[in-house]
Amino acid sequence: MRKPIIAGNWKMNNTPEEGVALVEAIKPLVKEANCDVVVCVPAIDIPAVGAAIKGSNIKLGAQNVHFAEKGAYTGEISANMLKAYGVEYVIIGHSERRQYFGETDETVNKRTLAALAAGLTPIVCIGESLAEREGGLTEQVLDKQIREDFKGIEDLTKIVIAYEPIWAIGTGRTATDEQANETIGYIRKKLGECFCPVCASKVRIQYGGSMNAKNCKGLMAQPEIDGGLIGGASLKAPDFAAIVNFDK
Ligand code: 13P
Repeated sequence: MRKPIIAGNWKMNNTPEEGVALVEAIKPLVKEANCDVVVCVPAIDIPAVGAAIKGSNIKLGAQNVHFAEKGAYTGEISANMLKAYGVEYVIIGHSERRQYFGETDETVNKRTLAALAAGLTPIVCIGESLAEREGGLTEQVLDKQIREDFKGIEDLTKIVIAYEPIWAIGTGRTATDEQANETIGYIRKKLGECFCPVCASKVRIQYGGSMNAKNCKGLMAQPEIDGGLIGGASLKAPDFAAIVNFDK
């Protein structure tokens, strides 16, 4: 059985003070969760939010990590620096980073391997654009991302994969339960072919893209979907908690 994992991606929202207020509101609402609960916060919020969630069942995540251990990489943060503040998860290769910050499959792969080497759990994002889906290229795009982003990973079960169709992010246009399930099933099949069938059956794959308190039950009822990576709805405590408590 794969334990579900619900992660909030706050993106570039919340000062440290606002972040602490948000997790303080989330804490009591999710304490009976049956899934892993993660908040991926802006780097500057990590110390304050990390301190606020100590002793709770909420885990700390970052939104990016550099691949080098240290050095002349202005503006970047290493895996060891994240670890020093109790970070356990890190989002890598989000489509916004690919689109706006020049992230490529090669850098996603390097960041993923560095995160694993430091003992962090990468949440690696993959997914197709609207033009790619409408052009019938979804499988081709995912194949390339799977082959290149996960190259050289010794144990696939140590990562989490987030399938985020770009056309569903922040648009209110969610993939249907069946679409998300089918595509995640395809990703799992491909992982088995390219890497290891047993790992493919064990690795957790989340859905992300306009997931909210209303549609989460249907998505989470799908057999291939092991969780959610939540943007907008993770910024409101009751909405995020409703998703975490999808099984209640
Ligand atoms: P929304 O939930 O706001 O669509 O964002 C999804 C996402 O990008 C999570 O990483």
